[in-house]
Amino acid sequence: MTRIIYVNGRYLPYAQAAVHAEDRGFQFADAVYEVCEVKGGRLVDETRHMGRLARSLAELGMPQPMPPGAWSRVLRETIRRNRVTDGLVYLQVSRGAAPRNFLFPPSGTRPTVVCLARSVSPVEQEVAAKVGIGVKTIPDPRWDRCDIKTVMLLPAALAKEAARAEGATEAWFVDGNGYITEGASSNAWIVDGEGHLITRSTDNRLLRGITRTTLIDLLRREGLELVERAFTVAEAKAAREAFVTSATNIVMPVVKIDGQPIGNGAPGLLTERLRSEFHGAAEIAAP
Ligand code: PDD
Repeated sequence: MTRIIYVNGRYLPYAQAAVHAEDRGFQFADAVYEVCEVKGGRLVDETRHMGRLARSLAELGMPQPMPPGAWSRVLRETIRRNRVTDGLVYLQVSRGAAPRNFLFPPSGTRPTVVCLARSVSPVEQEVAAKVGIGVKTIPDPRWDRCDIKTVMLLPAALAKEAARAEGATEAWFVDGNGYITEGASSNAWIVDGEGHLITRSTDNRLLRGITRTTLIDLLRREGLELVERAFTVAEAKAAREAFVTSATNIVMPVVKIDGQPIGNGAPGLLTERLRSEFHGAAEIAAP
């Protein structure tokens, strides 16, 4: 089956799905994006993801390329045309194409909109979650607007490559004071020796993950306490459990940090419970 990608109003076969050579996303990373989980053919937490997209666009002074109803149709049509039952849908909006100039193009320049969907095997995801992943800690070289979900992902790509070179799957960025900011493409969590669940509070240094927000709803519903504060690399290595959250991983156990086993080196019990209960707290959209 040929994959189909939505580009600026058209659903195109994979090989023809292209944007202009002078797109500002390509030249300046002047673009924002979202990744939403698809489960059983339905979008998970669509409202929150689209809310964050609107905020990212507003923070960068980019116009909304289409109203919410149109977004909703594009997402569903892209999922449908690619026959995705379980996987993800990715959408990206750039400030558009214009002759290269750091200054913004004239208002009225058409934003570039891309939407693609991809299947991910739920069985493989479950197998990965049974084993857990390793993470590598790396100094955080990013700018101070990591709260905006931009495609400026070179630091994340480099960090993940460095992690892979050491047999790890994810990188955890560390700020100048030795505290973890977040994962290269996920939020970071630990359960300390006393059983406290800890994740960094959100500010401009990290992304307010939608999975993180929905997991906090679940914690409230279950009466589980959360401590929102920064934690150090040393605390993480001494933790009883650790995990990451993202739309592509939901709750993924971390069993090694810089090669050092966490807890008994197997996924933690609380982590596994939160993973299994997550979708009960999420918004599962109509198809
Ligand atoms: N990344 N922090 C960063 C830097 C991220 O890139 C992501 C998501 C998250 C988690 O956010 P959410 O729970 O809304 O997925 C945190 C996506 C999945 C990606 O780039 O593929």
